[in-house]
Amino acid sequence: MAKSPEYYMQRCLDLASNGRGKVSPNPLVGCVLVREDEIIGEGFHEVFGGPHAEVNAFDSLHVEEVLTNATLFVNLEPCSHHGKTPPCADLIIKSQIPQVVIGMTDPNPLVSGKGVQRLREAGIQVIEDVLTEECQVLNRRFIVNQTENRPYIILKWAQSADGFIDPVRSAHEKGIKWITGPEAQELTHGWRADEDAILVGRKTVEIDNPSLTVRAVEGKNPIRIIIDPKQVLSREKSVFNDLAPTIVLATEGPERENVIVLPASDSWLQDQLKNVLALGIGSLIVEGGAHTLHEFIRLGLWDEARILTGTGTFGGGIQAPTIEGNLREDFTIGPDKVQVYSKL
Ligand SMILES: NC(=O)c1ccc[n+]([C@@H]2O[C@H](COP(=O)([O-])OP(=O)(O)OC[C@H]3O[C@@H](n4cnc5c(N)ncnc54)[C@H](OP(=O)(O)O)[C@@H]3O)[C@@H](O)[C@H]2O)c1
Repeated sequence: MAKSPEYYMQRCLDLASNGRGKVSPNPLVGCVLVREDEIIGEGFHEVFGGPHAEVNAFDSLHVEEVLTNATLFVNLEPCSHHGKTPPCADLIIKSQIPQVVIGMTDPNPLVSGKGVQRLREAGIQVIEDVLTEECQVLNRRFIVNQTENRPYIILKWAQSADGFIDPVRSAHEKGIKWITGPEAQELTHGWRADEDAILVGRKTVEIDNPSLTVRAVEGKNPIRIIIDPKQVLSREKSVFNDLAPTIVLATEGPERENVIVLPASDSWLQDQLKNVLALGIGSLIVEGGAHTLHEFIRLGLWDEARILTGTGTFGGGIQAPTIEGNLREDFTIGPDKVQVYSKL
């Protein structure tokens, strides 16, 4: 029995996933070439600025194959504009493939639908919207980058069983107070490695002195972003070590390397996030503290919230934020509880 379009689209998604952590802020894209119900070529977008999935799929063909009875499957609409590489729609037309199956259209309103139009005008039969939801979930970071002009934002915090993110401290009491166990640390370090950057507020750096790196698992350190409006933090703090680049978002003070200064305004955070995306940072995990998290929540600048709840109580301290979203995941890790919400 012939395999379904969903079968081949799932193969595209599996291939596309191999680009995770390497292509951002470009999309994750996989492509397969099918003839007589058999995959004859496949490829994915492997590295930012590198060849697109369609190009790699054509390149994977061992010999000059005849494609006049083949079908191309791809999880994202082929591009029709000249970017870092020539338009994939043109490459497909040149190959004489008669049929193309697409998972989702390009979310960028400026190009959406143009690739499909170009293919149809060349006489190619285009089938759209196969496994669309799965395609959108895989490329949710890219969709937010394109439609909201900011990085995809994941809020993350750990709270005590009675709802505090930090206990009452004396003015001189510094250092991280652990709320959750080593299993949760492994999980959250994996989350850090998955995203382009990690962000915290000035007071978290001052009080906890975290390094914001990935230590409990293998993986790349995200770029560190600190909101330090008046540039008061000492460069001796661990976030300024050389384990990863660190960017400071400020409202005043000198323009220096890796410091983005924008005068305070109502749209300051949105404007800074546009700057962050322009640096090629497509996703951001915001790890606190409370003030910083509240600002992102107040302005609706979030896509996911990941909340870890430990077993101990503090009896007082800094109150954890509250958030309204759709509960997507609810599980335990070691003794701790994890809840994942999405805004939509
Ligand atoms: N349990 C957890 O998951 C977790 C995680 C991180 C931190 N914490 C705890 O949280 C505490 C720190 O939290 P916090 O709420 O006091 O401080 P914070 O959020 O770490 O830092 C707040 C400061 O950051 C700057 N800032 C943040 N967002 C801004 C914005 N949108 N616009 C302008 N400035 C902004 C301001 O600096 P200026 O005052 O200089 O203007 C603000 O006072 C620490 O005790 C730490 O232990 C807990």
